[in-house]
Amino acid sequence: MAAPELRHRTPPTVTLSGAPLADTPLLTDGSVQAVAVPVAPARPGDDGLVPGVGTAQVAARYGIDLAELAERAGMAGAAGEAHVVHLPRPAGSAVRLPWSGLPLRIVLVGIGDGGPGALRRAGAALARSVRGLNAVATTLGDDARADASTVATLTRAVVEGYLLAAYRMPSVAASDEPKPSADLVLLGRDGQRTGAAVVAAKIDAAATWLVRDLANTPSNVKTPEWMAERARRLGGDAGLSVEVLGPTELAAQGFGAVLAVGAGSASPPRLVVLRHTPPEPGGKHVVIVGKGITYDTGGLDIKPRESMMTMKTDMAGSAVALATVVGAAQSRSIHRVTAVLPLAENHFGGSSYRPGDVVTTYGGTTVEVMNTDAEGRMVLADGLAFADATLEPDVLIDVATLTGAARIGLGTGIGALYATDDELAGALVAAGDASGERVWPMPLVEDYAPTTDSEIADVRQTANEPKVGAGSVFAALFLRHFVGQRRWAHLDIAGPARATTDKHEVTEGATGFGARLLLQYLADLR
Ligand code: BES
Ligand code: MN
Ligand code: ZN
Repeated sequence: MAAPELRHRTPPTVTLSGAPLADTPLLTDGSVQAVAVPVAPARPGDDGLVPGVGTAQVAARYGIDLAELAERAGMAGAAGEAHVVHLPRPAGSAVRLPWSGLPLRIVLVGIGDGGPGALRRAGAALARSVRGLNAVATTLGDDARADASTVATLTRAVVEGYLLAAYRMPSVAASDEPKPSADLVLLGRDGQRTGAAVVAAKIDAAATWLVRDLANTPSNVKTPEWMAERARRLGGDAGLSVEVLGPTELAAQGFGAVLAVGAGSASPPRLVVLRHTPPEPGGKHVVIVGKGITYDTGGLDIKPRESMMTMKTDMAGSAVALATVVGAAQSRSIHRVTAVLPLAENHFGGSSYRPGDVVTTYGGTTVEVMNTDAEGRMVLADGLAFADATLEPDVLIDVATLTGAARIGLGTGIGALYATDDELAGALVAAGDASGERVWPMPLVEDYAPTTDSEIADVRQTANEPKVGAGSVFAALFLRHFVGQRRWAHLDIAGPARATTDKHEVTEGATGFGARLLLQYLADLR
């Protein structure tokens, strides 16, 4: 029985209209159905909300006191608030209202402190309030008093938030005719800087959409082979070199951990390597290894159904690595970027690997298997050792939905960061703050390192006694055995990779967390 073909959505378009709001024909030619304007919170000592850029012109054109209206609607001006004002039509042709011929919806959008993080939320709130319309025009992110670079930064944040919140899951439901997201028209700005900001926002959002689409795809569709084919296609389209290793090549080259984890599945494993090589030398070489477990049953150490339910997202790390290298090519990164995707399904069957097995990983390090559900660190061990031995990375980063412990420790809002290099850790924290995908530094506790000692192999896969705690730290300590002397960072995204509800720029299901963080890291890397 063939798996169903999923319907993917296309993102809304974004256009810049240099025309100032006061005289743009866009508002009267019927092409947009809503005008969105910013509303800031009252300043200390002031009592009223502060109308943002464009609000006065809209108020003048409509003949409505918008600040007063926002106040009556109960708005505080906080980022994430959006209020749609539906204007009435005249009763009969004899009556002429001041807004005659103008869009009949005004969206009042809170912008909080007006910074990039707040405007990302404002963009997201706007996207959610104009679903089903053809287009919305807005002055959000514009600021006549700010310099071009600030306007570009804020515009990028608005567009990013808008596009991220406009995401819908791929679906096969016959009944499901999703309301398309309205296209976005940015009023009052044009010029090279703003144009580049919009392009950057589109690349960022496309990377996140890609991770979400792949991670939201059911696991009966996304076998390792399917993932590898998607990577081949997407990589090829982006001008990357793509190499796919199947079971035979994996065996010949010694990827014992990927093969062990994939052994219980009817869908055999793959390993994909995608390379972005900039035309000019001189940049760094960043290698990103992403955990690609297309489904995690736990293997013979089978998971209870509640924990298994969400495990189609367990390849999010590999999707992040893929989206990052594609995004690096699209944004013409000056750095070499290589993505390594070890792809396997962790299932149980007659040929499953077992607790107690000894597995030889890439390069010869042997691992004593303690728990078949700790499969992520196994495939990463192969991927990291392969990267260290053959790719000569200046920076080695892995990204993985690795441990329930990371989610318990930090929740679903931020990721856990481990690193062997303080500068690298600092750069990733900074990229997290700038992109809105935050990570928190965690310790590689040296006192715990002996937990990975084994009597029968080079390394033990997990702590001997269960429930000793610090599961995310142990996993990181295990991975460190496979990175040689590289500058290495490990991102445990088990928490933020999924969301149970829509919130700001995050959408329910797979969130895509990690791609924008890594693209920001690459953009800032010198
Ligand atoms: N994929 C899971 C981790 C996970 C849990 C991700 C919850 C997202 C949400 C991983 O493969 C796993 O099963 N980890 C085990 C490791 C343990 C057996 C040492 C865990 O965290 O319980
Ligand atoms: Mn597992
Ligand atoms: Zn897993």
